[in-house]
Amino acid sequence: MKAVILHGGQGTRLRPLTHTGPKQLIKIAGKPISQWVLEQIRDAGIHDIVVVLGDNMPNKVIEYYGDGSRLGVNITYVYQGKARGLADAVYRVKDVVKDDKFIVYLGDNIVNYDLRKFASFDSNASILLARVQDPSRFGVAVIKEGKVVKLVEKPKERISDLAIVGVYGFDENVFDIIEGLRPSWRGELEITDAIQGLIDRGLRVSYEIVDGWWKDTGTPRDILEANAILLDTRVSRHIAEDAKVINSSIEGRVFVGGNSVIENSTIRGPTYIGGNTIIKNSYIGPYTSIGDGCEIENSEIEHSVILDNVKIMGGVYLMDSLIGNNVTIRKGNRWNMLIVGENSWLTL
Ligand code: DAU
Repeated sequence: MKAVILHGGQGTRLRPLTHTGPKQLIKIAGKPISQWVLEQIRDAGIHDIVVVLGDNMPNKVIEYYGDGSRLGVNITYVYQGKARGLADAVYRVKDVVKDDKFIVYLGDNIVNYDLRKFASFDSNASILLARVQDPSRFGVAVIKEGKVVKLVEKPKERISDLAIVGVYGFDENVFDIIEGLRPSWRGELEITDAIQGLIDRGLRVSYEIVDGWWKDTGTPRDILEANAILLDTRVSRHIAEDAKVINSSIEGRVFVGGNSVIENSTIRGPTYIGGNTIIKNSYIGPYTSIGDGCEIENSEIEHSVILDNVKIMGGVYLMDSLIGNNVTIRKGNRWNMLIVGENSWLTL
């Protein structure tokens, strides 16, 4: 069986971070979001992976993953280019998956679910559902007597609180249906319409309900929440042998990567600190991820995601913030919900 990871789309709600690459490559808790997805697929025993690329710097994805061997998988790339909808993206893999059943995983979703169980579906298609407070942000499914009877994308009326999670299973019937689809009101070929088409044709669509957490990382707040969940559930305490901890307190589940230096500081977990990062005279609070090659001095950071090669110094206080690669922030002020794209300088 093959698994398809969708790596295209616009990422408009995550600008400016997505001006310099696809959103699925944003690193949280030490790895790009799509790498969390890929490793979950691999750990479920699926090693043939098809990555569908969009038009936002697809080469960055190929550069990062290569042929997949570094992560123990075989990757085949397929271009979608412009984001014409999830059903359009799925159609692009027709010649690669041939007549086999396959699963599709949106590269910006993080789901705590047993994929091995999900991938063994014996219907024509299978969907994963989760109960949500605000169904209008998602596709939803109406279930009657144990059967999926109706699917609606971004419903205006509350017809169901069961949102469609970004993990799907299909057999080859889906391709026929997609050929007959028309673009929706948002100009996209919707996977929700394709699944509805399968139901209307009398084919069997099964479903499973997620009992654990699920996060669609479409907005900055979602990224911070996904970061918190991953730090809580997937990161254990580890201080690399060649990291230096000098006159500092490292409390709880804190990961410190190779060659990093923590001096005169307090780090409170759950927190992830990458490699070659220097933290001096600072406080790093819970639910923070700091990337590789960063320098943090005389500052306080809490509940934030700081990407690679970032410099923060001189009494900066950051909370609930998302800072892109190669950013420099100097001098003191308090910031809540600061979102800074790559290669920026902020002198306050
Ligand atoms: O997150 C779950 C939701 O994902 C489902 O509940 C919805 O039914 C489904 O339509 C989808 O909704 P979104 O509006 O959140 O989809 P978004 O445009 O954010 O795209 C989801 C992922 O697929 C994202 O990683 C980008 C990728 N994508 C998207 C489009 C439209 C592509 O690779 N190609 C595309 O053409």
